[in-house]
Amino acid sequence: MHNEQKVTDHIYWIGGNDFILPRFEGLIHISRGVSYNSYFIDDEKTAVLDAVDNSIRDVFMDDLKFLLKGRKLDYIIVNHMEPDHSGSLLALAEAWPEAKIVTSAQAQKMVSNYFHVDLKDRFITSDEKLVIDLGMHKLHFVKAPMVHWPEVTFTYEETEKVLFSADAFGTFGVLNGSIFADDVDYKEEYLPDLRKYYANIVSRYGAQVLMALKKAAKLDIRYICSLHGPVHRTEEDRNMIISTYAKWAAWTPEENSVAIFFASAYGNTSLAAQILAGKLAARGVKHLKLVDLCSESITEAFPEVLRKSHIVLAGITMNMTLNPVMNAFLDLFEEMGVSNRTISIIGNSSWAPNVSGKIMKEKVEKLKKCRILGEPVHIVSALSDDGKLDELADLISSDVKAGQA
Ligand SMILES: Cc1cc2nc3c(=O)[nH]c(=O)nc-3n(C[C@H](O)[C@H](O)[C@H](O)COP(=O)(O)O)c2cc1C
Ligand SMILES: [Fe+2]
Ligand SMILES: [Fe+2]
Repeated sequence: MHNEQKVTDHIYWIGGNDFILPRFEGLIHISRGVSYNSYFIDDEKTAVLDAVDNSIRDVFMDDLKFLLKGRKLDYIIVNHMEPDHSGSLLALAEAWPEAKIVTSAQAQKMVSNYFHVDLKDRFITSDEKLVIDLGMHKLHFVKAPMVHWPEVTFTYEETEKVLFSADAFGTFGVLNGSIFADDVDYKEEYLPDLRKYYANIVSRYGAQVLMALKKAAKLDIRYICSLHGPVHRTEEDRNMIISTYAKWAAWTPEENSVAIFFASAYGNTSLAAQILAGKLAARGVKHLKLVDLCSESITEAFPEVLRKSHIVLAGITMNMTLNPVMNAFLDLFEEMGVSNRTISIIGNSSWAPNVSGKIMKEKVEKLKKCRILGEPVHIVSALSDDGKLDELADLISSDVKAGQA
């Protein structure tokens, strides 16, 4: 039996779901699995666009064999060499030894580094002038370097107007039967996972995403086929996913609101964070988010930074330095190039000066286009009635409202 899924009459999805992977790229906690999408074009000549993760290799190879109905495979298009797609590339290339491998010069080097085999005779270099003619379908190649690896290429099929966008527009979360975004409640079902994928994997490369979007804007696109998650085929869905990406790529917040991240040992800093959240709510701030960094993974917390305009960091001093989880969280800010955010700081120490506050401030000062709102608040062990949290709540709430005006 085969899970036959058509994108169009001649283009098939031949991917699969991974329900059990707990951490994507060994790091990002995922709770709803992930799909690896590959696509097959059935024409006078046949082509497969990207392979899949080894976890679903057998079902992928079996589906491809079924769709080929005894014909040979003419082309293997490799748009992305990350092993969640190219893990099964060698097996694919060996199973269909006549297939040419169409990929960028950079990806060709990666093929030899990953597999240590000589496939030179089989490569066709996919530059932006190349057209692969399959008969009815004609493939063009658009370079999208650093979205999010250097070799990344989009393939555009001109007859049915399909953009194969590599990881761009991809999301965590398995496919639930239908492969189309318009067959599900995408915002409910996938938006948090789309945000998590973008924040943790793509957000560092906003400038490169904007360049790729500019190139894509010149194409007449009916279908957006990413390597993870649903296919976008309605105008509404295409506009939604492209405008969401454009917003994130420019580090434009989705919401004028506040996320408060705290790291506490005995609960005093946690209580201060909760009291601050209550004070902000009382001052009319909506859609507040409180995140305990010590009980959630930082990759789970990080998408909220992409979402909110205002961030509060509340972290304790430990062993004369900053709590290690808050430290790692702020290192992630630097790594992914967090920009255009307004950030307030609350430190806590029991016998030292405000060491955690000072370190958080220094880390935030290194971020581009980020503004520190208010002086770092210093809690000595437990919150006192010095009115500092009220002052901070006044400052943040009026700043949020000023942004809404
Ligand atoms: C392992 C550990 C190490 C700590 N090291 C320091 C320190 O070097 N200097 C200091 O002033 N406080 C230190 N503290 C105290 C914390 O800053 C303390 O937990 C905080 O003042 C109370 O806030 P909390 O209830 O949110 O944890 C340490 C606490 C822990 C648990
Ligand atoms: Fe990737
Ligand atoms: Fe991927």
